[in-house]
Amino acid sequence: MERLQKVIAQSGYCSRRKAEEWIASGKVQVNGETVTEMGYKVKQGDAITVNGKLLEKENKVYYLLYKPKGVISAVHDDRGRRCVTDLLEDVKERVYPVGRLDYDTTGLLILTNDGDFANLIMHPRSHLDKVYEVTLNGLIDGDALHQLESGIYLDGVKTLPCKIKVTHKDIKHKSTSLMIKLHEGKNRQVKRMFEAVGFTVTRLHRMSCGELNLKGMKPGEYRRIKPQEVKRLRHLAQQSAQKPY
Ligand code: URA
Repeated sequence: MERLQKVIAQSGYCSRRKAEEWIASGKVQVNGETVTEMGYKVKQGDAITVNGKLLEKENKVYYLLYKPKGVISAVHDDRGRRCVTDLLEDVKERVYPVGRLDYDTTGLLILTNDGDFANLIMHPRSHLDKVYEVTLNGLIDGDALHQLESGIYLDGVKTLPCKIKVTHKDIKHKSTSLMIKLHEGKNRQVKRMFEAVGFTVTRLHRMSCGELNLKGMKPGEYRRIKPQEVKRLRHLAQQSAQKPY
C-alpha cells in the first residue's frame, strides 16, 4: 500500500507537490471515487484517474537538454510560446523540467518523469553546484563581487556563499563577463543578485549542474542522462543536503 500522491508522482505524471495540489482540489479519483484525503493509501490494481485520465505506469527517463533562447521551461504555455518539451521530438514519456531557466536564458536543463528525483534535485536543502556564464551591462568592482560572494538579501533571505570569477572586462563597451557558481536555485536568482548590486544581466547561460555539463552539445540538442550519472546526481544532492550551510 502506497500513498496516493507518491503513486501519481512515480507514474511520471507530475511532481509530488503538483499531485498534492490535484488531490486537494478534487481532481483525483480512485476506483471512480474522488479522494481529497492526503496520504490516502492505494492498493495494487486500484484504478487512479487524474483530471479524468487513467494513470499508467511509465519507465523513468532522464534527459539533459541544451535549452536555447526563446523557449519556456514548461510543458504547456497558455500564450502558445514554444515549450522545452516541444524540443524532445522522440520522447513519448511525460517528462517535465526540473526547475526552470528563464525564457532568455540558455543552457543545461534536466527533464524527467521521475517525481521523486525531481523533488530531490529541487529541494531547497539540496545544494547541487550550478555554474553560470554571465554578462553584465557595466564594470563590476571588487566590493560588489565580495558582497555577492558572501551573501546578499533577496526578499529578506540571505543567499548562500558563492564563487565568482571575472573572465573579461570590456572597458570600451562597459560590460563584464564572469562565471558564478551557486549552491542553490532560487527563482531568477542570478539576475536578482546582480540587480541587487546595481547591474543588469544581459546574457545568462547555465554551463553545469553537479557533474553534468553540455560538452559537445549545441543549443536545442538533448541526450539521455546515463543511469550512472543519475545515480551520481542523486548522491550529490543527498550528500549536499546534509552539509550545514
Ligand atoms: N538565474 C536567473 O536569474 N535566471 C535563470 O534562468 C537561471 C538562474
